[in-house]
Amino acid sequence: MNICKTKDYEELSRRAAAILAAQVILKPNCVLGLATGSSPVGMYENLVKQYKNGELDFSQVTSVNLDEYKGLGPDHPQSYRKFMDSNLFDHVNIDKTRTFVPNGLEPDSDKACKDYDCLIAQTGGVDLQLLGLGNNGHIGFNEPADAFACGTHCVELTPSTIEANKRFFESEDEVPRYAYTMGIRSIMCAKKILLIVSGKAKAEALKAVLCGPVTPKVPGSVLQLHPDVAVVADEEALSLL
Ligand code: GLP
Repeated sequence: MNICKTKDYEELSRRAAAILAAQVILKPNCVLGLATGSSPVGMYENLVKQYKNGELDFSQVTSVNLDEYKGLGPDHPQSYRKFMDSNLFDHVNIDKTRTFVPNGLEPDSDKACKDYDCLIAQTGGVDLQLLGLGNNGHIGFNEPADAFACGTHCVELTPSTIEANKRFFESEDEVPRYAYTMGIRSIMCAKKILLIVSGKAKAEALKAVLCGPVTPKVPGSVLQLHPDVAVVADEEALSLL
């Protein structure tokens, strides 16, 4: 693992954007695995800036997102599709027909997950997978569990994730209880992984991910087994290491 310690969130966002931009420049028709949450917002802002300055071209890029809340459609303000449109896709020249997010409106979980796995396979595989980290060590929506999940699956969100994500909703009751997420194997199949982590609240989880045992109880710990991971984290997130 390659660990880059940044002074703060601003520097983290610039460093992470530089890695993602390098991927797009070196392989213009790459497949990007993208993530949502507050961690990548600054990184996406930097990418939009670079696109507007004429430094980046997304026209041949394909993207697959990690996850989506079950029950939320593209028009819901808190759906991850909406997040991606507002934070990146609407501001760059990516072909939106080649941007994919699990179908939150598909009520049949098996179908939604199988369809998404087929789609990922059809892209030819992810070149660079971006990840944030949940307070409980989750990646995507792979919550702590007894075993690592393989492909895309439907998860019941843990109380701590509902608590952490309620800030985006009017009330805790409105946070969906289930989500579709790429599995650990899908994530680990990416050629390269970029993990971004910011803030003191993530310090404990990041320590467990980087230095603890590899265990499905801390889903991110599996990244210790991936051959090409870049971690970009700020001083606060790395403060326990
Ligand atoms: C959500 C997402 C994850 C994300 C995590 C951390 O649960 N499903 O993909 O990494 O939250 O989010 P944040 O960056 O807002 O702390």
